[in-house]
Amino acid sequence: MNSSAVSLREIVDSAVAEHHGKIGTLMPVLHSVQEKLGFVPSESVPMLAQSLNLSRAEIQGVIGFYHDFRTSPAGEHLIQLCRAEACQAMGSRDLELHAKQRLGIDFGETTEDGRFTLEPVYCLGNCACAPSVRINDGIHARVSTGSFDQLIDDLEAQE
Ligand code: FES
Repeated sequence: MNSSAVSLREIVDSAVAEHHGKIGTLMPVLHSVQEKLGFVPSESVPMLAQSLNLSRAEIQGVIGFYHDFRTSPAGEHLIQLCRAEACQAMGSRDLELHAKQRLGIDFGETTEDGRFTLEPVYCLGNCACAPSVRINDGIHARVSTGSFDQLIDDLEAQE
């Protein structure tokens, strides 16, 4: 067993131990693995299946169903567009199309240069200032296609 497999095993074991004995353990364990690694690697699925006494298919199903879980590392900048109701009412659908075009990627994808990952989210708690976008740790309010481009331009200008 190589060292990265050992460390992944340790991460899985610690995530399982954190939530040991709780009801509905799988979701918090997956969140915990993603928090530690930034994504849920496919290699962790058999380990989780064994530790939680679930089938691999059950775990894959949950990872595939919930948008929260990433199966590969995010790019340098994580861009999350809100798709929930208040943002939709304020034009987030157009913003979504624009963002996909501007970045040349769909939801769940990362640009070829590894700089941007685009993800949907369902409410950022900023509904009064919709449409909302989170870029890394910052939430941006009333984002238009123009201000989105500006935000991306600023990030692209960073070294
Ligand atoms: S609906 Fe978009 S921030 Fe709440």
